[in-house]
Amino acid sequence: MDEHQWYLYPVLAARVARLAGGPFDVAVDMGTGPGLLTAYLARDLARRVHAVDINPAMHELARSTCTRMGVVDRVEFDRCDVHRLPYPDNHADLVVSYSCFHHWADPVTGLRECFRILRPGGMMVIWDTDGSRKSAVERIARVVRDPAHLRFVTEAFDESYAPAEVSGMVAEAHLPDPFLGPFSIDEEDVMAAIDDLANGASLPDPGEAGDGTAVAWELIVRKADPAPAQS
Ligand SMILES: C[S@@+](CC[C@H](N)C(=O)[O-])C[C@H]1O[C@@H](n2cnc3c(N)ncnc32)[C@H](O)[C@@H]1O
Repeated sequence: MDEHQWYLYPVLAARVARLAGGPFDVAVDMGTGPGLLTAYLARDLARRVHAVDINPAMHELARSTCTRMGVVDRVEFDRCDVHRLPYPDNHADLVVSYSCFHHWADPVTGLRECFRILRPGGMMVIWDTDGSRKSAVERIARVVRDPAHLRFVTEAFDESYAPAEVSGMVAEAHLPDPFLGPFSIDEEDVMAAIDDLANGASLPDPGEAGDGTAVAWELIVRKADPAPAQS
């Protein structure tokens, strides 16, 4: 997957920087997979990154990505499950997750865990495929020519939740003031990541169906800082 969408990850990291600021002490990448988002977070945004994954084979790939990008010393490869994270409350300034949510057996528990480990003032940003846009696969197939990658994309649409379902899960998890909206690549984020993108302007947008409509969603939740004491 990283080979197919390598250009997405510096853009996601730029987006997180724009949304959340930084630099941060501790970031968590939930479902690191081959580790590209983890590596950009470690390079640009966080002093330490936990690369969470349940699959040790993914950690092998992530370790080699982080080594290649010169950030492996700043990354902990934690084999664990989003449903039972080994971190204490208020551990991380930033929790991100790209294309992992649809794998969670119990998304409400996963969301609660992500929020639990956030520090006050911290932010979580979760992106996943919009399961209500399965019909977009046909148009996407015109730009994704590799059959293996197309199979991967099709499975993601089949397994993913529609935003209305995600909204219900977010409500059930009692996350405060969530923002849930369509996600596609933002020009401002591309410009911020342009040094990492050869021919960035002409790259296909994996968050779009080819007709200008988003086929992914973005969930943003901030954990409030405690109110300052009244004098
Ligand atoms: C589709 S891949 C996405 C990987 C990465 N975020 C990326 O964009 O390349 C999903 C990853 O989530 C991991 N995963 C699935 N369920 C998980 C869970 N319950 N807890 C932690 N990781 C999980 C999988 O092993 C896989 O590496």
